[in-house]
Amino acid sequence: MQEKNKKKKIISNSYVSKSIFDTEKIAKNIAKNAKVNDIYCLKGDLGVGKTVIAKAIGNFFNVNDNISSPTFTILKSYNLNNKKIKKIHHFDLYRIKNLQELENIGFSDYLYDEDSIVLIEWPEVAHDLLPNHYKTITIKKVMNDNSELVEDERLIMYEEK
Ligand SMILES: Nc1ncnc2c1ncn2[C@@H]1O[C@H](COP(=O)(O)OP(=O)(O)OP(=O)(O)O)[C@@H](O)[C@H]1O
Ligand SMILES: [Mg+2]
Repeated sequence: MQEKNKKKKIISNSYVSKSIFDTEKIAKNIAKNAKVNDIYCLKGDLGVGKTVIAKAIGNFFNVNDNISSPTFTILKSYNLNNKKIKKIHHFDLYRIKNLQELENIGFSDYLYDEDSIVLIEWPEVAHDLLPNHYKTITIKKVMNDNSELVEDERLIMYEEK
């Protein structure tokens, strides 16, 4: 499903993923269109699949060091062997409480780092620091008619402004 609203230039897509493999394919398709200075906000509850998407984007760019969750380190950066995009900065802001803490880790410098793309798990705390052009990937677990979680199924929404 794709909707284009020319006036506001919003592009949004939503996908149903039935497995990790589906999610990886969706992430790969998003990565195909990545350009330098792109910022991808990965939103969704604990354990929903944000790191799965980050890993798949890393794999698309042949990150040699397997992308893992930066929960305890806040940031992991990876060098790429790519003509245009030279680095991926992968943040997990779950433990960051306020803007001051973000400033302390030099967050904004990474956003404007040339030749790189930025992936941010738990981006809500950084909202006021983000430039207008960020892209959002929101992942949700899916319920059946009996309000039970459907294992391995996710709704993935992509939006760029
Ligand atoms: N369709 C699916 N897409 C993605 N992950 C899935 C899917 N079905 C099941 N999973 C499982 O969901 C989990 C997602 O874990 P992941 O670490 O990516 O979550 P996260 O959103 O990064 O969590 P956190 O908030 O702790 O960082 C994995 O264990 C994965 O196997
Ligand atoms: Mg994670």
